[in-house]
Amino acid sequence: MRIHDNLLSDNDIDLLRQYWEKNLNKVYVNGYREKDVQDYRLDISEKDPEFEIVKSIIKKDFTKYLTDTGKPIEGAYYWAALQRAYLPHILHIDDCFVDDRPAYTYIIAFDSYNKHRTLAWKKICQGGNKELFEVVNYWFSNYSNLSVVNEISTKEDIDHTPFVEDNYMLDYYEFDDHFVYNKGSGCLFNARQMHCTSNWKKYNEFEYRELLQIHMTIPDLIVF
Ligand SMILES: [Fe+2]
Repeated sequence: MRIHDNLLSDNDIDLLRQYWEKNLNKVYVNGYREKDVQDYRLDISEKDPEFEIVKSIIKKDFTKYLTDTGKPIEGAYYWAALQRAYLPHILHIDDCFVDDRPAYTYIIAFDSYNKHRTLAWKKICQGGNKELFEVVNYWFSNYSNLSVVNEISTKEDIDHTPFVEDNYMLDYYEFDDHFVYNKGSGCLFNARQMHCTSNWKKYNEFEYRELLQIHMTIPDLIVF
């Protein structure tokens, strides 16, 4: 995971929040947890001026994959959306893939809140969530014969991730890093890394969490 400070100015965040208000009719439900909406999304169209903000962020890490006009080069793709999450995200892989090409995710915070975190592990599931499902099942069947490699469950709010009694699956996999939400700052990671948010909802201090999410697909694998 790579952490970036100051990806968005306060003015950028105001513009993106206005973009949400102007386009309420295009906001869609991205996911449910049981019957409850987990998060809403609004795609940012490349045709809208707000996409310039997205391009300025991508440029910081992926300059060589953009043409002079800011379009992705052949073989590279980008996508961006605003997200308003009402529930924490459980362990998952971002299914934002164009075939087998390497894909990366930016999460950029709209607020500063210590309990809002993005957490990533080193484990890569090249096969996406289907493979992750197998990894989780393997852990449930074998955890008593496996070794704990960290004590992340004692340091982060991950009680919404797989566990048996006081054994947390994520203690058995090498932790990468955490991103603590800080207004305008963000993180970048391999989209196929196992990741989740912290379980911020249990504190009942925020109704929802807002962010900008960007996916970038490129022909080369970059290891941070
Ligand atoms: Fe994700």
